[in-house]
Amino acid sequence: MLPTIRACLDAAKIQLMQTIPADEASIEARMLLMEVLKVNHAWLLGHALDLLDTQKQADFKVLIDRRLKGEPIAHILGYREFFGLALRVTPDTLIPRPDTETLVEAALEKINQHARGKPLEVLDLGTGTGAIALALAKHGPDCQVTAVDASEAALAVAKDNAYALGIENTQFVLSDWFSTLAPKPYHVIVSNPPYIEADDPHLQQGDLRFEPLSALASGADGLQAIRQIIAQAPSYLTENGWLMLEHGYNQADAVQSLLKAQGFAEIATMHDLGNQPRVTSGKWPLAKPV
Ligand SMILES: C[S@@+](CC[C@H](N)C(=O)[O-])C[C@H]1O[C@@H](n2cnc3c(N)ncnc32)[C@H](O)[C@@H]1O
Repeated sequence: MLPTIRACLDAAKIQLMQTIPADEASIEARMLLMEVLKVNHAWLLGHALDLLDTQKQADFKVLIDRRLKGEPIAHILGYREFFGLALRVTPDTLIPRPDTETLVEAALEKINQHARGKPLEVLDLGTGTGAIALALAKHGPDCQVTAVDASEAALAVAKDNAYALGIENTQFVLSDWFSTLAPKPYHVIVSNPPYIEADDPHLQQGDLRFEPLSALASGADGLQAIRQIIAQAPSYLTENGWLMLEHGYNQADAVQSLLKAQGFAEIATMHDLGNQPRVTSGKWPLAKPV
């Protein structure tokens, strides 16, 4: 007798609960079965009592086993939702995190203060899948976005994502932070740079084991990339331009001090969905030579 879809989902949830919390196990079991059956959530709900054939059971088991071995669900599915965009994700890219939506929202607030109809230059440093750049390009009126990464492989994924989403107002540049950028000023510079301490044991746990170290770790105190970006950003900001940085929950004071020492004004920190200090921004107060 073949099992029903509901029975298969219940069994998979119990298996996944060995490694992840019950609420996540339930969602992930559903997502993996949707992937096997190529159906959406509504279909799955409406067909809970349908029987699952032997081949589909075997296909489902393969995906559940991969997840039980720790492989991130975003890698198994090959995509992750971010700010309403379905983004292709590979082992060459960071898996976009919900916390990073805080940075997108904060940047959109600045972008929306800009006079309508005037082109607005935005720079995303360390674009990965293109998550931040593409969300800003899609939702920021009159935005022209430049997305930079030092990883050629990540940049290829970001370009694919832009193409798949039909987003055209974004250009992609292979660069070690600002090094190969033309010296032009940006109204808003955003970055979610690597910011984990090099010897942080979390790097050996969970999804992080499957993501590129170059997207995660940044020197002994985690602040190497942030220091470099803050030091170089003033040469690439318009007068009254904003630098907005995502950082670790315990790095807000350090990032604020670095911005202050560099001469930024109106420094402020925003909190993420878990109420952790996550994004710090500063306004560049001086007119810049271009
Ligand atoms: C934390 S990930 C952020 C990815 C994406 N922006 C996001 O929020 O999902 C950091 C990104 O910075 C890139 N990166 C690391 N060092 C870099 C450098 N020196 N220059 C440019 N990009 C760099 C990594 O390849 C990675 O894609």
